[in-house]
Amino acid sequence: MVSVLVLAAHLLSYAALTTASPTPRAASGYAPVPVTCPSSQLVRTASGISDAESSYIDQRYQKASQALKSWLKSVDEAFECRQCSSDGDSGSGNWSDWGSGGKAPVLALTSSGGGYRAMLAGAGIIKGFDSREANKTGVSGIYQALTYHAGLSGGSWLLSSIIGNNCPTISSLQENLWETTIQSSLLVPQILLSPQAAPIYSAVEVDIQAKRAAGFDISIIDPWGRLLSYALLSGPDGGVMDTMSGIASTSNFTSYNAPYPIITALGSNRLIDGTCIPQPNATQYEFHPYEFGSWDDGVDAFVNSGYLGTSFSNGAPTGSCVTHYDQLGYVLGTSSNVFGSICGPVPAANSTAVSSLTLVEDLAELAAPGQPGIPESGVFGLYPNPFHNYPSSSLVSAQPTLELVDGGVGIAYQGNPIWPFLHRENVDVIIVNDNSADTLTNFPNGTEMLHTYQAAAAAGLTRMPVIPSVPTFVSKGLNQQPTFFGCNTNETVTIIYIPNYNYTYQSGTSTNKIQYYANETDGMISNGVQTANRGGDADWPLCLACGIMKKSGETLPSGCATCFKEYCFN
Ligand SMILES: *[C@@H]1O[C@H](CO)[C@@H](O)[C@H](O)[C@H]1NC(C)=O
Ligand SMILES: *[C@@H]1O[C@H](CO)[C@@H](O)[C@H](O)[C@H]1NC(C)=O
Ligand SMILES: *[C@@H]1O[C@H](CO)[C@@H](O)[C@H](O)[C@H]1NC(C)=O
Ligand SMILES: *[C@@H]1O[C@H](CO)[C@@H](O)[C@H](O)[C@H]1NC(C)=O
Ligand SMILES: *[C@@H]1O[C@H](CO)[C@@H](O)[C@H](O)[C@H]1NC(C)=O
Ligand SMILES: *[C@@H]1O[C@H](CO)[C@@H](O)[C@H](O)[C@H]1NC(C)=O
Ligand SMILES: *[C@@H]1O[C@H](CO)[C@@H](O)[C@H](O)[C@H]1NC(C)=O
Ligand SMILES: *[C@@H]1O[C@H](CO)[C@@H](O)[C@H](O)[C@H]1NC(C)=O
Ligand SMILES: *[C@@H]1O[C@H](CO)[C@@H](O)[C@H](O)[C@H]1NC(C)=O
Repeated sequence: MVSVLVLAAHLLSYAALTTASPTPRAASGYAPVPVTCPSSQLVRTASGISDAESSYIDQRYQKASQALKSWLKSVDEAFECRQCSSDGDSGSGNWSDWGSGGKAPVLALTSSGGGYRAMLAGAGIIKGFDSREANKTGVSGIYQALTYHAGLSGGSWLLSSIIGNNCPTISSLQENLWETTIQSSLLVPQILLSPQAAPIYSAVEVDIQAKRAAGFDISIIDPWGRLLSYALLSGPDGGVMDTMSGIASTSNFTSYNAPYPIITALGSNRLIDGTCIPQPNATQYEFHPYEFGSWDDGVDAFVNSGYLGTSFSNGAPTGSCVTHYDQLGYVLGTSSNVFGSICGPVPAANSTAVSSLTLVEDLAELAAPGQPGIPESGVFGLYPNPFHNYPSSSLVSAQPTLELVDGGVGIAYQGNPIWPFLHRENVDVIIVNDNSADTLTNFPNGTEMLHTYQAAAAAGLTRMPVIPSVPTFVSKGLNQQPTFFGCNTNETVTIIYIPNYNYTYQSGTSTNKIQYYANETDGMISNGVQTANRGGDADWPLCLACGIMKKSGETLPSGCATCFKEYCFN
């Protein structure tokens, strides 16, 4: 991915902080915690979603379908949604069930990768969709109608910031967190080097030493995730106590107020065949509150995410169990691991001159203070392999550690985390918000969608609608306006594709831009609101509603016919 290489190059201008190593503090909330193993089974083969997820989704769907019904009615009284409030059985539905039983569609949102650009543009989409916001748009209410939300890389920063803060509004995150933290981004050398940031630097160093002292391999993803967390999470030491599994105990999760969150990452095959760069068929992993794992051939298994970090053999713990390895900053750092392409050891800084050090060297120094650099494995998100010696995980069963990278990198990079929903037959409609930088001006051009279609076809996944070639995508302007894919077949999901577009702000900012002034954060988010609402186009709310309900088997308002002509590609 071009932007990744550029990011790596950009980071070469980074400098390190040469603080003396503090004496490690006794306690750090970052270290994984050994616990007695539960008697329940922790690893399973990937046959359908877990009982826990299924139960969450049934409850969430009740609320989401009610919200969908109210929004549809607000758009056009003529919308029927006969079963929206009465049928909670979302677990087994598919499009062909609709005509007979009647069933509100299960909606998912995907937030793409692309650094802070993607995070902020994606935040604007949610702000535009969220009925809690003071400024209403014609599409306010869709956020409440979502059952799932997946994020990848920059999109995982957005999703983590939402769920890690118990699902506040985007306005609140914007005003109380991001305007300040992204302006004073710790990824900017002068800021990380400033005396004000020194306590953060030493807290991060203590965290990492504590994880190592607990017996775990450290990589540059530890400091990367920790530094990013200061911009995204709240609570002491950059949200150090937040874990992916802990999200299941937050109040808006236990009351089913929020869509089920999923963060994706890719497996590197370095330990299998020496290729660090993900190939087109790279294994797609997913992290969520209940589980971590992959549906893909060669892994085909999930582990209880709260027990990541535990050593397993053939699905059983080999000793005591481990918790708190699924630290949320480490997960979002893994999903945005742009360093895997280094594909080699990172030597120690060759100079004590602060100005000649790079970010990677600095992360390496935080990861392994005073050492001669970090080994090749240290550029990956490292996870003790829960599928070690697990029979169905033939691709990875021999390796003791999984090495993970950014979900949107590699030869046939896919910037949109659509994959989890091609495996979930209960999902009917995916709103794909693509904030990728495919073009020279940092806008999407369909490349990432096509890659997902091609990878799905190669893997025999039939729920992805056909995506045209990039020249067709661009010549028809599908990358500059919302487009619906899969309108006319019940065999696939419907994709509502919403690309980043510069309605009110030059939102094609570089993936390498690691600092936004408060006015830039606001400009990006406001532009995202316009993107959600198609720049205020009066027909858009109706057309979006028509697209969502197209295959429901319900009688649609007469205006839908015109919408389908305008928005349905196929
Ligand atoms: C969809 O539902 C129909 C009718 O209930 C059923 O025959 C079909 O097998 C289902 N398809 C899938 C992929 O579950
Ligand atoms: C898809 O399913 C709906 C509901 O059963 C039905 O009304 C519609 O005709 C089907 N469309 C196609 C193209 O088969
Ligand atoms: C609402 O919109 C107005 C006018 O565009 C703007 O001045 C105000 O800041 C917005 N409020 C919020 C909370 O975004
Ligand atoms: C989460 O809980 C808070 C406090 O109860 C509430 O204000 C907020 O709107 C909730 N979030 C969602 C998505 O409902
Ligand atoms: C991917 O493709 C390569 C080359 O075609 C093949 O060797 C490998 O087994 C495939 N599967 C995975 C998961 O890498
Ligand atoms: C150390 O850095 C200097 C200046 O960048 C460079 O000239 C020299 O070759 C480097 N030495 C090693 C051993 O990498
Ligand atoms: C689309 O984006 C890809 C990836 O950056 C680029 O290689 C290609 O040239 C672009 N094509 C068009 C037609 O914009
Ligand atoms: C959007 O981009 C186009 C093409 O670069 C440019 O002409 C236009 O002025 C931009 N609009 C805004 C609001 O920045
Ligand atoms: C945004 O804020 C920065 C720093 O405060 C300032 O330099 C810049 O001019 C502002 N940009 C706009 C468009 O107001």
